[in-house]
Amino acid sequence: MKLVSLKFKGETLYILDQRKLPFEFVNMPCKTKEDIWEAINKMMIRGAPAIGVAAAYGMYFGTKNLEEEKFFQKLNKIKKYLDSARPTAINLKWATERIYQVAEKNKGKTVNTIKRLILKEAKMMEKEDAEQNLSIGKYGSTLFHDNDTIMTICNTGALATVAHGTAFSVIRRSFEKHKNISVIALETRPYLQGARLTALELKEAKIPFHLITDNMSGFMMAKKLVNGIVVGADRIANNGDTANKIGTYTLAVLARYHKIPFYVVAPISTIDPNIPGGADIPIEERNPEEVTHCGGKRVAPEKIKVYNPAFDVTPNKFIDAIITEKGILRKPFKESIKRILK
Ligand code: MRU
Repeated sequence: MKLVSLKFKGETLYILDQRKLPFEFVNMPCKTKEDIWEAINKMMIRGAPAIGVAAAYGMYFGTKNLEEEKFFQKLNKIKKYLDSARPTAINLKWATERIYQVAEKNKGKTVNTIKRLILKEAKMMEKEDAEQNLSIGKYGSTLFHDNDTIMTICNTGALATVAHGTAFSVIRRSFEKHKNISVIALETRPYLQGARLTALELKEAKIPFHLITDNMSGFMMAKKLVNGIVVGADRIANNGDTANKIGTYTLAVLARYHKIPFYVVAPISTIDPNIPGGADIPIEERNPEEVTHCGGKRVAPEKIKVYNPAFDVTPNKFIDAIITEKGILRKPFKESIKRILK
């Protein structure tokens, strides 16, 4: 079975509802900007690149009933509305801005033409994401060898993108290219993207793997069972500091202690040129129930205080390289990032 996060068909964006995976495969038909906002906010679709492409289609849906009057003012409002669905992944704002710019550049044309161009751009972004992921996999797989075990957190596969994935693409390509590649996937509490989604994708791809709980990762490294770690990113600051799924920072520090290479894997669109360092990245705080409950069942006493940040920030000093579709970035990241953004 091919896992497809989203598909545009007949003026509808079908989004695979990832909340129900791995048990039910339900495609949610989205036809309005509100449907898209809801799908992103409620995490039917998640993963920075997939969120970006969904938001691009959301911009198109938002324009469908707009007339010439105040078109740009209204489009800007739609952009802000969609941007508010989740705060950390910069790919969301990057995508809505790219769509806005297409409209802006074609200001002199009729509103219907602009709407057509917006849809064309959203489709192009979808296609580009798949292509970039293949390129990411090619570059990233050069860092691995026969018999390597790769550790990963969260889900960065086809479900988190349009196809192939980012860190997952490195895993997939390494598996195709080298002998005896295997994976250790972290379950990724509290939302369990690792257990529910990555385990499903690894199983589908027939890549040998073990699933572990997050707190087992240090022990696996100490036992010398890990040769390298690949993680995705939701936002990379100008200096390489990286926001990614909560638990990533812990892995990076452990990796440094155990002298295991730690790689961030992301398309260039995940770099936020406006943010000088990780401290400026907004971190989403999610519903406390994700922590007090597991699989829908309460596991903690009632009326307690909870922290539930969805992401953490890994300082650039713990990152050995950033793997992008345009190549592998090395330190100092401030300079390699500047070069790649030119
Ligand atoms: O909360 P999520 O599931 O959207 O978080 C996803 C991640 O942290 C991913 O690692 C990141 O978005 C990159 S996905 C290719």
